[in-house]
Amino acid sequence: MLEITFLGPKGEIRRKINAEPGENLRQAAIRNKFGLYPHIFKILNCRGRGLCTSCAVEVVSGNLAPRNEVENDKLKSKIPSQPNIRLACQVSVTDNVVVKTQGSF
Ligand code: FES
Repeated sequence: MLEITFLGPKGEIRRKINAEPGENLRQAAIRNKFGLYPHIFKILNCRGRGLCTSCAVEVVSGNLAPRNEVENDKLKSKIPSQPNIRLACQVSVTDNVVVKTQGSF
């Protein structure tokens, strides 16, 4: 079992959840009833299809596979120089990770 730690804007721990190795980060958050999405995007999001970027998180620590094609395409125009910004719906959790959700980075 792996651990995902979500940080708040001041670096404080908002919540820790468990994830199965290889589980999708967004799905782990949903399964643990942790809200990833800011504001209206709690309702208006693409449901994990890699289209809306509203699930973007900043990976503070933890080893994950590099961005996939969907992430590179969607994030290049927004945050091209920060490879640690990831789409939670595209990331498989393969290590204990610490992340910030939108509004915290
Ligand atoms: S949920 Fe829309 S890009 Fe991840």
